[in-house]
Amino acid sequence: MLIRRAKKEDYPAFAAIEAQHPGYPAWGENGFEAEEKNRNAVTLAAEAEGRPAGFINFWILRPQVQLNTLAVDKAFLRRAIASALIGKMLEYALKSLCSEIDLEVNEHNAAAIALYARHGFKVVGKRPKFYNNTDAAVLMRKSLREKDL
Ligand SMILES: CC(C)(COP(=O)(O)OP(=O)(O)OC[C@H]1O[C@@H](n2cnc3c(N)ncnc32)[C@H](O)[C@@H]1OP(=O)(O)O)[C@@H](O)C(=O)NCCC(=O)NCCS
Repeated sequence: MLIRRAKKEDYPAFAAIEAQHPGYPAWGENGFEAEEKNRNAVTLAAEAEGRPAGFINFWILRPQVQLNTLAVDKAFLRRAIASALIGKMLEYALKSLCSEIDLEVNEHNAAAIALYARHGFKVVGKRPKFYNNTDAAVLMRKSLREKDL
């Protein structure tokens, strides 16, 4: 598996991955394209078996990193692709001298909450009715220790 910067040709595959996960907030091809104009944004692709198998997008807003979206192709779940994308985001965060990574996740998204907990994210708050005015968002944060910086 290879993690690399995303490019325009990846966006149809990213949109197809989003569509495999009903209920997951989809950016669509246009959403990913719009990120190219944001100089704080980083979008990475995970490539497996020669095709995009997952993506991550985050903003580097020193001293914070904001994780915006992350998803993996259903054919490649539980093969540590999301973990590799998070690992690469962590590298960016450390190189950019950021001290924390923040994210929001749907309270019912047990898979993602387990994934983030495994990577050292802690629950720091909750936003009621954040998704479609119904589900709460769980706010999670990973603090990067000084020795990591
Ligand atoms: C959540 C998601 C990104 C995980 O991707 P993945 O590549 O399968 O995750 P990994 O293989 O790196 O999983 C690492 C660990 O996270 C936890 N985990 C991942 N998926 C899990 C699940 N369905 N149930 C329980 N724990 C899970 C496990 O601890 C797992 O380790 P293990 O496989 O050794 O048990 C994927 O299910 C997905 O794309 N979901 C839809 C989009 C989404 O919800 N994104 C998160 C938005 S906040």
